[in-house]
Amino acid sequence: MRKKEIILTSIFILLLVSFSTYFSFIKNKNKQEDLSVMKNEEMETVLSYIKNTKDFKAEYEKFYSQINYHPEHNFFKEINIFLNLQYTPQEINTIYDFLNSKNKEKLLSHEKIEIQNYYNIKNFDVDKIKRYEDYKSIHNCSLEEAILKVNIGLNHDFYTQIEQIEIQEDYTVLVNKYRSLGNYEPSDLKSLSYDEKYKLREKAADAFEELISFAKTENVYIRPYSAYRSFEYQTALYNKYVEKDGKELADTYSARPGHSEHQTGLAVDVWSEGHTEITVNDAKWLSENAHKYGFIVRYTKENEKITGYIEEPWHLRYLGMDVAKDVVNKRLTYDEYYDLYIK
Ligand code: DAL
Ligand code: ZN
Repeated sequence: MRKKEIILTSIFILLLVSFSTYFSFIKNKNKQEDLSVMKNEEMETVLSYIKNTKDFKAEYEKFYSQINYHPEHNFFKEINIFLNLQYTPQEINTIYDFLNSKNKEKLLSHEKIEIQNYYNIKNFDVDKIKRYEDYKSIHNCSLEEAILKVNIGLNHDFYTQIEQIEIQEDYTVLVNKYRSLGNYEPSDLKSLSYDEKYKLREKAADAFEELISFAKTENVYIRPYSAYRSFEYQTALYNKYVEKDGKELADTYSARPGHSEHQTGLAVDVWSEGHTEITVNDAKWLSENAHKYGFIVRYTKENEKITGYIEEPWHLRYLGMDVAKDVVNKRLTYDEYYDLYIK
């Protein structure tokens, strides 16, 4: 009797599995068919849509039949402008498939620009094409590298053509020698347990406490020695360094007022306990572990030319766990990462 029950149950389960596999197959097949229908629709050309509208221009009829239809606002008007600017139907298709709307808008109000090399590079800006080309030929580098460097600002001197940061309160805010915080003050500063005079923004402060607790479990003992610094404090600090070492040298290790990450309340400098520096061992530990708690070591030796600062293995910048991990995995400076993935 028991044996019979087991056999019956097994048959029932087998049937159930077969049915569910069959139904999911049918469902997927239908989905695929739906997709192929959609694709055909997407591929439909502009001609049939524009024909009976006031935007139809007989001289462009043969081009309309080669341009894929996109149901965007002002689409017909725009393709007439592109055709008038002498863009080919293939180029127009590529513009709508690959370019972001800002770049597309810029192309519409410009003489025709040869941008076939740029379509696949997502961080390019139509307005900077001349600068990309110049940078590429001067530095003999790839177009991708030229775009990244020019976007950061590295085609002109540090502290020139400075951009005022509008939303300073983002955890992912980029502050460097081209981007100023003005006299911004964070709204949610919180004291660190080591000493209440050291403050960070709340999330960064909590993450920092967790980082130093975790460090202890690995026999690494670190402590903060500088955290949030106001615009006024940074002004006094920078001026003191300029007086001591001169402007040129001071600029290699101290940010000018408005340009320090410390003013965001998201940066903290750390020393090894019992030392007035970070030891080589602890610096190594931080570079391998800080991202697990949302921090990166912001100024490294290999990136001095991009950041404009000599290496600072003690300077941690909070970005949040996901971004910090991604920056480390991608082996980029935060300046590069920001241009490629955040802005
Ligand atoms: N020492 C770093 C660069 C700062 O002044 O913010
Ligand atoms: Zn620092």
